[in-house]
Amino acid sequence: MSSEITLDYNEFSPQDYLNEYYTEVSDENESLLQFFHDTYSKLGPVDSMLEVGGGPTIYQIISASRVAKHIDFSEYLPANLAMVRAWLDQKPGSFNWDIYFKRVLEIEGRPASRENIDALAGTVRGAVRRLTQYDVFREPPLVEGEPLYDIIASNFCIEGIQTDRQVFERQFGRMTSYLRPGGLLALCMVKNATYYRVGKRRFPVVPVNETIMENVLKNAGLTLTHIQSIKAVDPDQGYEGMLMIRATRG
Ligand SMILES: C[S@@+](CC[C@H](N)C(=O)[O-])C[C@H]1O[C@@H](n2cnc3c(N)ncnc32)[C@H](O)[C@@H]1O
Repeated sequence: MSSEITLDYNEFSPQDYLNEYYTEVSDENESLLQFFHDTYSKLGPVDSMLEVGGGPTIYQIISASRVAKHIDFSEYLPANLAMVRAWLDQKPGSFNWDIYFKRVLEIEGRPASRENIDALAGTVRGAVRRLTQYDVFREPPLVEGEPLYDIIASNFCIEGIQTDRQVFERQFGRMTSYLRPGGLLALCMVKNATYYRVGKRRFPVVPVNETIMENVLKNAGLTLTHIQSIKAVDPDQGYEGMLMIRATRG
């Protein structure tokens, strides 16, 4: 089962990733959708949100699109951005996220009808203001002249792009420097992992847990408001579980 662990994200296949993690709403994905709903349904309307390392996926911005007027979706790999662009443009053959829309509607207590699914997909499409190629290793500014964001969200990215804890902390500080005072950070991470699997590839992860993240957040000037963890469904994927975190700046 083992394969070489690589840091080369050119080896990351968007299609393999989607097939591996998003063809069904697994128990893990169900917990993520619930976390996003809990997080965003508590907020009033905000102007701007930055998604970091968004990958080829949009499940993570469905609930956010109910409250964020503008979502700037950033990602390192052009191939992943192309996947998201194809979905935004409703290109034939683009990934079908209907089961995720359906589940979000159910969580919201609304009928998961075709009409409501299409309306919610339209809300997500209308909220995405930019798709931006962004490398967390790069210095700011991410987008020239853009004010700080009301929300920063990142899922399974920042812990999975290097192997050094200090580099991880620096990147974390850089990513969260785009958050305005009082703004919200929403973060999902793999817990106590050294790698995660995509098809035959394995990508390295800096192991994190509740205690480590409490310190990392504090060092970045953020106040932790919520942290929960769930167990992994399949430990062969490389992680023991998932962490879901909310924090605010200041
Ligand atoms: C495990 S995927 C997560 C994708 C998506 N956020 C999700 O929830 O499924 C990790 C993502 O980090 C991106 N990534 C890799 N290196 C990066 C970098 N230097 N800066 C920003 N993102 C990067 C990858 O391209 C990939 O899309």
